[in-house]
Amino acid sequence: MVHPTQLPAWGALEAHAGDMAGRHMRDLFAADPDRFTALSLRVGDLLLDYSKNRVDGHTMALLAELAAQAGLAQWRDRMFGGQPINSTEGRAVLHVALRNRSDRPILVDGHDVMPGVRAVLDKMKGFAGRVRSGDWKGATGKPIATVVNIGIGGSDLGPVMVTEALKPYHQPGLAVRFVSNVDGTHVAETLKLCDPETTLFIVASKTFTTQETIANATTAKEWLVGHLGAGAVPAHFVALSTNEAAVRAFGIDPANMFEFWDWVGGRYSLWSAIGLSIAVAVGFDRFEELLAGAYDMDEHFRTAPLAANMPVVLALLGLWYNNFLGAQAYAVLPYDQYLHRLPAYLQQLDMESNGKGVARDGAAVGWQTGPIVFGEPGTNGQHAFYQLIHQGTKLIPCDFLASAATHNPVGEHHAMLLANFLAQPEALMRGKTLAEVKAENPALSDEQAAHRVFTGNRPTNTLLYKTLDPRTLGMLIALYEHKVFVQGVLWDVNSFDQWGVELGKQLAKKILPELSAAGDATAHDCSTNGLINTIRAWRA
Ligand code: F6P
Repeated sequence: MVHPTQLPAWGALEAHAGDMAGRHMRDLFAADPDRFTALSLRVGDLLLDYSKNRVDGHTMALLAELAAQAGLAQWRDRMFGGQPINSTEGRAVLHVALRNRSDRPILVDGHDVMPGVRAVLDKMKGFAGRVRSGDWKGATGKPIATVVNIGIGGSDLGPVMVTEALKPYHQPGLAVRFVSNVDGTHVAETLKLCDPETTLFIVASKTFTTQETIANATTAKEWLVGHLGAGAVPAHFVALSTNEAAVRAFGIDPANMFEFWDWVGGRYSLWSAIGLSIAVAVGFDRFEELLAGAYDMDEHFRTAPLAANMPVVLALLGLWYNNFLGAQAYAVLPYDQYLHRLPAYLQQLDMESNGKGVARDGAAVGWQTGPIVFGEPGTNGQHAFYQLIHQGTKLIPCDFLASAATHNPVGEHHAMLLANFLAQPEALMRGKTLAEVKAENPALSDEQAAHRVFTGNRPTNTLLYKTLDPRTLGMLIALYEHKVFVQGVLWDVNSFDQWGVELGKQLAKKILPELSAAGDATAHDCSTNGLINTIRAWRA
């Protein structure tokens, strides 16, 4: 197996990184007035401007060459073709089947998965419609006013992010809430907002064994039974899972279970039955528009040449900074309050997928893999951590996102937001020289002026869309999914497993009974023992 650092283009990029070291983006812009046109891409109503990056045409050509040498097109075809590319779990990776809007069959082991996908979508449509119309009644005959999704990780972050993003499309009078954390505070505070007669719980768990979700669902069930009796459970609980036996054992009627499949990864599952809370919140037609937007991006990703392929370009730029220019992190900065959970969602998508230390063949990687992802909505981030991005010693490439039109045209707010959204990437690119600082304020001493200098040459991508509607959101999410996929291919890691979450889970199981055992804890290192003993003493 050839590792990425052994590919000819890798060595060429290392050499080219040296050539680019002395070049400033100011000069690149000055030399090419068509840089925006040359280095931007459009898919539907989504524009990616990547001109404010430390690249020239040669950089992009070498990066595209690296993708070709890594066999990206073949890996992409393997994913769309239902091959078991999740090699450590022997699974296909087919979130694209969930939003396949064409008649094209998608085969896993020779079996077309599309009829099953369509059947579950139909069931979701019927159910969401009944809840929204008031036809689905609670045990005492009242319509549902609150839906509570209980899940964690991919069974929470996608639905939360999307329902927040699509708030303008919510049905008035129907609240959608989310419980994820095993901290009892989360479920307790949520239940305070619920009326048992009009609350419907959606228990979302691919495995239906996740400790946090089962604990929260059990507490919710006890709360409901305490108010309405055990007979009320079928009218107030539905499940989204691949594990029918566990759903049945929990006490949920399998007729009220919405199925999905092991080829849907948790962090790629919002398009599946896991999206039921989205369909209830915004209606099934809007949910289908979300799927259609993702399909648009899938088709672009599947068919566009690598050099003009939006997810590929985004991935290659990330790799350029991560592997050749020493960046450790990257920031996602939505100038869109509706996308306030996008950074959290992308943290799981990116870091759980590509935060890996071994290559596909099990060898330790000798190159950097996934970055640290963080972010906040603009303009809040500007008043918090942008200082470091502008003047700190670390290189932090950023994605800026905004819509040209707003759902909330109040006063000058949107224009002010957009002005900031445009100003930040410009400032990061241009910087401000000592001469410019002095020209602005000639009275400043050199020492004082030095603090006001911005080196600039700090890279950003700008993603601009017309309106944050379901279709655009679907495109955006699929864009990032494919970006992460491409990077995983180039880093030669399996982006679809997550063994790194297991050790902590294992140890937590061991520690749980020890918290209430008698005598001093001795089974761990002295730090963990000491903390357990202190907790025991303070809880007593
Ligand atoms: O944290 C690990 C993880 O397996 C995630 O990958 C997943 O999204 C989450 O737990 C929830 O899993 P489940 O849907 O099986 O409850």
